Formats: sequence, C-alpha cells, structure tokens
Amino acid sequence: MDTQTAQKPTRNIALELVRVTEAAAMAAGRFFGRGEKLDADGAAVKAMRLLMNEIDMDGRVVIGEGEKDQAPMLYNGEHVGNGEPPYLDIAVDPIEGTELVAKGMPNAIATVAAAPSGTMFDPGPMFYMSKIAVGPEARDVIDIEAPVEDNLNKIAHAKGMEVDELTVVILDRPRHERLISDVRACGARIRLIPAGDVAGALMAAWPGTGIDVLMGIGGTPEAVLAACGLRAMRGAIQGILWPRNAEDHQQALEAGIDLTRVLTLEDLVTSADTFFVATGISDGPLLDGVSYSGGFAHTHSLVARGLTCTVREIFSHHHLGTLTAISSIAY
Ligand code: FBP
Repeated sequence: MDTQTAQKPTRNIALELVRVTEAAAMAAGRFFGRGEKLDADGAAVKAMRLLMNEIDMDGRVVIGEGEKDQAPMLYNGEHVGNGEPPYLDIAVDPIEGTELVAKGMPNAIATVAAAPSGTMFDPGPMFYMSKIAVGPEARDVIDIEAPVEDNLNKIAHAKGMEVDELTVVILDRPRHERLISDVRACGARIRLIPAGDVAGALMAAWPGTGIDVLMGIGGTPEAVLAACGLRAMRGAIQGILWPRNAEDHQQALEAGIDLTRVLTLEDLVTSADTFFVATGISDGPLLDGVSYSGGFAHTHSLVARGLTCTVREIFSHHHLGTLTAISSIAY
C-alpha cells in the first residue's frame, strides 16, 4: 500500500480495557467456589465500573447487567468512561458464568467489548439465540439453517479433518437433547459446558483449545460479545433468535422482530472497528484463571481488535500489597 492510502496507527482501546477485565477477574477470583454468586457479581461489577470510568471515552452500555431498576451498576443505557470522545457502544459481562465462579468450576471469564456508537445489535426482549460459531478456516462454510451433518462435514473439510476428529462445544441443557444426538450420530466429539458460551464461541476460533465449533442456544447478549472478539480472530458466528414460549413469540411480534432472520457476525456488530477483551477467572481451554502466589495475583487475558485483526495474550502479575494500599477495590 502506498503512503497516501496507508492509515496512521490509531488508538487501541482494548489495550486500556484490559485493565478493566483484569480488575473484575481479580475481584471475582476471591469468590471462587464460595457459593456467593451475587456477591461475586457485585464485586466484579464494582471493579469493572471504577476502572472503566477512567478511560477517555464516551461509552454507553448497550449490553449490560439488565435494566436500571434491577441492576444498580452497568445497566443498559448507563454512560461509562470520562465522557470524552470516541462515542462507543459498550457490552459488558463482569462475570460470564456466575454459577461457574460460585461452584469453583472452569471457564468463567470477565469480558468487555466496545464498538463505534450505534453498531452493536440490540437484543431487545429476545434473550435467547440459536448459534453456530467457528474459526477462520471454516468461516465461509457454515450455514445455521442447514442440517448439523452438513455443517460438520463442511467444517471438517475446511479444516482438513475428519468429522470424528471435530469437537463441538455445547451448553449442557435439556433443550439441546436433539442437537447432541444429531452431533453424536455424525460421529463428532462433544464437550458439554455448564455455562459460558462467549468463551465457547471464542474457543472455536482460538488455536490450541481443541474446540472446532460452538453449536446451540445461548444468550443473545453473549452472541454480540462473542461477535466482537470473533471479528478480530477472523472467525464467524451466525444466529437466529429463539423464543422460549408463546409469550416470547408474542413479544417478538409486537416489537416487529423477525424470528426467521439469520444474523451474521456483521449484523451482530456492523463495524469492523471492534475491541474485545477477556480475562480468565477460572481455568479453561481459552484462558487461565486468576491464581495467587508469593503475594501476587496472576491473570491471563485476550486483547483483540477487529480493525487490525491483532489478538494479544497478556499475562500480568499484580502485587496485591501495593494494589490494596492504593485502590478501593478488594483484590
Ligand atoms: P451468566 O453470565 O449470566 O452467568 O450466563 C452464563 C450463560 O451460560 C451464558 O454463557 C449463556 O449464553 C447463557 O448463560 C445461557 O443461558 P441459560 O443458562 O439460561 O441456558
């Protein structure tokens, strides 16, 4: 590219946001296995918010902890950052997998995504979505409307693998009985996870996790978060909103939501200029969890930028005595 068309390097907000997820993960890390779901979430939210408000940005939470009256902090519509431009949509999940943290189980992460204002999909009242997510090799071959067998055959072919060598990650839910039996009938392997399909989607695109594809129904907000990360990993995700019952159907109808529409990664976040960060709270195929030794907390994060498709892994060592002396967060 000549110097006239080449862009100057621009600010990578993900490198600043990683402090936010590190703080949330460390705050949540203290609650690992303690059975205190709400306290863990409260601690992670508080840490996340404090750090986020130090960043030069005018962010509006579009995917947050819920509506204002039910979520004291990081609620949908809340402004975060110090109010300076850029104007951003923000998606947060201070603990993706609160149950996992409460029960001391693998795969919990703290995660935040950002994208230019107005570019993130608004899940509205539709909480659930049927999803398929893969990494770069298979990004052009998936089709959520096609049978499971067709998708697995195409993914295997694109990855130069046999179908029985593929591992599909699926949330362990009764609603997935049929999906699980379809995958088994094809001979593919399955990793059932109790929670956490943002991590599940990213595992499908991140080398070394042993996961080739995410399938099944999970949260719509989680799909938007995953899409921001998958942009940078050059993976793909497709989804179709999934009404649980007649009431959901009715709500969708009244809100003019098309329940047959296939939402692609580009629908879930229309800008290529996405930022995604995640820090492990508990160990999993994607990230190491928070660990402690010699007065330090150790964290492992992914820092991803859609514009450049650069994904960094950051291993940090936080001196707890020093942090405790200067910070209001209980690390
Ligand atoms: P939380 O972050 O609220 O704990 O959600 C975890 C999660 O497993 C998501 O990863 C997933 O998308 C969603 O819940 C699935 O919902 P459900 O547990 O109702 O099946």
